[in-house]
Amino acid sequence: MDATISRVNRSKEDARASYNRLSRWYDVIAGSTEKKYRDWGLEKLSARPGESILEIGFGTGHCLVSLAKAVGPTGRVVGVDISDGMLSIARERLRSEGLIDRVDLHLGDAAKLDFIEAGSLDGVFMSFTLELFDNPEIPRVLKECHRILKPGGRLAVVSMTKTNPPGMAVRMYEWFHKHMPNYADCRPIFARQSIEQSGFVIQDVSVSSMWGLPVEIVLGKKA
Ligand SMILES: C[S@@+](CC[C@H](N)C(=O)[O-])C[C@H]1O[C@@H](n2cnc3c(N)ncnc32)[C@H](O)[C@@H]1O
Repeated sequence: MDATISRVNRSKEDARASYNRLSRWYDVIAGSTEKKYRDWGLEKLSARPGESILEIGFGTGHCLVSLAKAVGPTGRVVGVDISDGMLSIARERLRSEGLIDRVDLHLGDAAKLDFIEAGSLDGVFMSFTLELFDNPEIPRVLKECHRILKPGGRLAVVSMTKTNPPGMAVRMYEWFHKHMPNYADCRPIFARQSIEQSGFVIQDVSVSSMWGLPVEIVLGKKA
């Protein structure tokens, strides 16, 4: 049995620099592979007209576009991402879709969400981002999500997940994460368990596989 999660040793500055370099190529490298899982997560979150939704680690902004369409002209979307390269691309995408007025984009570390008022949001969305935070930060980020949601608010997370015992693909990925952290910056985590331990009531979990790696799509609710 192996219930440990690999640590993340790089600094936030290194994370920013790495995603800045990657931003122009991100859609080519990861876009089409990850789309199916992102869309699945959005479906579970099911944002409605008039709602206020936060996306953490919005990347090139595809989900911000979907969320802004879903909340409509009376709703609000907030995005936070650590990379200014990603933010520029997302902003351009929202502008070209005519949706920029519905979205507030913040540059920064999502481990610090103190610019968002407690109990102010209907939903939080994260895809392929929770697994980038170091072990002590995962519960911190999730507790911040809990704090900023209204009672009954939803959290949808799409994440690479560790199985116990870990399969071959997980062990290979962990090896890459350890030895080439700049190329494999994320690693499988126990997503559902972390969400539950941070005070959410689990509503729904789907488990799928991406290149043999387990992916969990989890919907949690603030009681
Ligand atoms: C793997 S990408 C996923 C992008 C997008 N969610 C998607 O599914 O296409 C991770 C994103 O999280 C951002 N990120 C990494 N560390 C972050 C942090 N500490 N705070 C906020 N965003 C972060 C990166 O800049 C990047 O845009």
